[in-house]
Amino acid sequence: MGRLILAPMEGLADCVLRDALTRIGGFDEAVSEFVRVSGSLLPERTFRRFCPELANGEVWNVADYVRIRAETGCEDVMLGRGAVADPWLAQRIVTHLEGREWTPPEGGEWAALLPHLVHFWESVHARVEARYVHGRLKLWLNALRRAYPEAEALYQAVRPLPTAAAVESVLRQASGRSGGAGAAMQR
Ligand SMILES: Cc1cc2nc3c(=O)[nH]c(=O)nc-3n(C[C@H](O)[C@H](O)[C@H](O)COP(=O)(O)O)c2cc1C
Repeated sequence: MGRLILAPMEGLADCVLRDALTRIGGFDEAVSEFVRVSGSLLPERTFRRFCPELANGEVWNVADYVRIRAETGCEDVMLGRGAVADPWLAQRIVTHLEGREWTPPEGGEWAALLPHLVHFWESVHARVEARYVHGRLKLWLNALRRAYPEAEALYQAVRPLPTAAAVESVLRQASGRSGGAGAAMQR
């Protein structure tokens, strides 16, 4: 089976988000460092020349994974933005490769995700200045909007809020409504 590798994505994901995504998604490996050679993604052809063993880019769902492996012949696939938008993408891929049907977490994916969002919030809070914390949550919610309508609603609710305290209160309320508030997170 191909290995599931999470890409670093400096500016979109950092060690806290990679930790959350690894915990949810069951990656074999989370790459934490790439040398930044330019401000934009490498062109596909250039990437292929440097990393012929690694399929990379635009894997948003299982079909993309199947396609990129067929097109490149690579065993190993780097998941980037797709895994931020859908933290269960890696598990969906594993399930597919094993010929099983995907079983969503009990209570649904979004409800299962909320405690991770709260934990993410707390971890970021412990590391960075308060005024930067809500920006980090918004960044992840913005990515999650692609896969979850609930993320869209939460994103719209927190977007205009000026302070970290206000954002935290909305996040905890959402988590409470889904039964996730204060729920001990499975580590
Ligand atoms: C915001 C962002 C920053 C990135 N920074 C780097 C980088 O500094 N060096 C690098 O080699 N790749 C970088 N990448 C590429 C990723 O590591 C990874 O190869 C790519 O995002 C995977 O494609 P995907 O996002 O379409 O899944 C970056 C990607 C994103 C989205």
